[in-house]
Amino acid sequence: MTDQELLQHAFKAMENAYAPYSKFHVGACVLCKDGRYFYGANIENASYGATNCGERSAVFAAYSNGYRKNDIEKIAIVSDGWRIAWPCGICRQVLSELLTPDTPILMATKTEQQTIHVRDLMPAIFGPEDLD
Ligand code: THU
Repeated sequence: MTDQELLQHAFKAMENAYAPYSKFHVGACVLCKDGRYFYGANIENASYGATNCGERSAVFAAYSNGYRKNDIEKIAIVSDGWRIAWPCGICRQVLSELLTPDTPILMATKTEQQTIHVRDLMPAIFGPEDLD
């Protein structure tokens, strides 16, 4: 699957966002190495803290279907904001543990696009090794 196709899937996922409070819509798509892919969207809640972000939803969907970091090729994250939305702090923590550091992250709005890698999200992460 090309990067543009993966981004198109993320925009499809964004249509499933449930964001009645912020009205800010996020979609994501995780592409696995075997070709399977998983959608995620932000899902809000009247108890705002219970909200789940789009990229976390997509990664959790992949993990829920048995995929792990080494099975995942890349992730696309899109939003309908006026500029590219980088992952929030909680998502940076989650993506840093559940994806490999060299996994590409395609980020886009309808008008701009940028690619980074998981390692660009957060230095010196608190990770599983810290619990040894
Ligand atoms: N949101 C995401 O889905 N991903 C991010 O990385 C940033 C924020 C969502 C959460 C909430 O539903 C809305 O955007 C506004 O914060």
